[in-house]
Amino acid sequence: MLRNLSDRQVTAFDSSQWDQRRVERWMRIDDIKAVLSPYMLDNPTARFLDLGGGTGRFSDLLLATYESCSAVVADASELLLSRNQPHQRKTFLHVEASRLGDVLEPGSFDVIFAHRLLHHLVGDSYAESLASIEAVLCQCAILLKPHGRLSVIENIWNGRFADGLAGRLLYCATSSRLLAPVTGRLGANTAGTGVCYLSDRILRRMLERTGFCVHTQQTLGAFRLPWYIRYPTLLKDARSAHYWCEIAQRPHPC
Ligand SMILES: C[S@@+](CC[C@H](N)C(=O)[O-])C[C@H]1O[C@@H](n2cnc3c(N)ncnc32)[C@H](O)[C@@H]1O
Repeated sequence: MLRNLSDRQVTAFDSSQWDQRRVERWMRIDDIKAVLSPYMLDNPTARFLDLGGGTGRFSDLLLATYESCSAVVADASELLLSRNQPHQRKTFLHVEASRLGDVLEPGSFDVIFAHRLLHHLVGDSYAESLASIEAVLCQCAILLKPHGRLSVIENIWNGRFADGLAGRLLYCATSSRLLAPVTGRLGANTAGTGVCYLSDRILRRMLERTGFCVHTQQTLGAFRLPWYIRYPTLLKDARSAHYWCEIAQRPHPC
């Protein structure tokens, strides 16, 4: 069972008040277009799934750039979906990422974007959170057409002594309801619910296990976090990374 963020927590992700240039910079739209545009030359009428697409700003940018594509913005938050601007080629889907397979047909998308979503798929333990992320990646593989692509943007946390330890310690701190007043004051928007940042190695292994191969990887930015976050979590480095993936094996039932 996934732990969902409250309406108050998800409104922190609402960029609909920002100007266009700021949204494009923050979403690193030029970096993403650099890998997406060559694919779009062969697939001009591509159908996108923007999973965890919230207010749909990213889909709006894609629809403006690629004039024959269409997009489905899927999100667990009705509040964020209601803040989407209507568009002829955009539809909305209120759905939990873990239930995608119940409502969408296999092989129905050319590209699935899971941008800054996976770390929110948290359960009541770290192991459950990893399993939820892997199950959603597996659903994505099934929903893609055979030549389809998966675009993942994640905050990557690599640990100092063991690469996965930093993300695990952060999950323990942020998922604790007892510690929520402290983690909240330290800046965690997910305090009391939890966040599951993966290391590069863990995410790549998950992608491989779910049938994907990483075609291109881009670092979108490195974070210099304060010592009181780095030291207790044994964090070596933190960055935002983009993984542009293709299907390497026929997807198995999840
Ligand atoms: C950090 S925001 C990212 C929004 C957008 N993709 C971006 O890159 O700016 C995370 C989004 O994932 C959505 N989300 C969180 N948990 C989800 C779940 N279990 N199923 C579907 N969407 C979820 C949130 O409502 C929110 O819109």
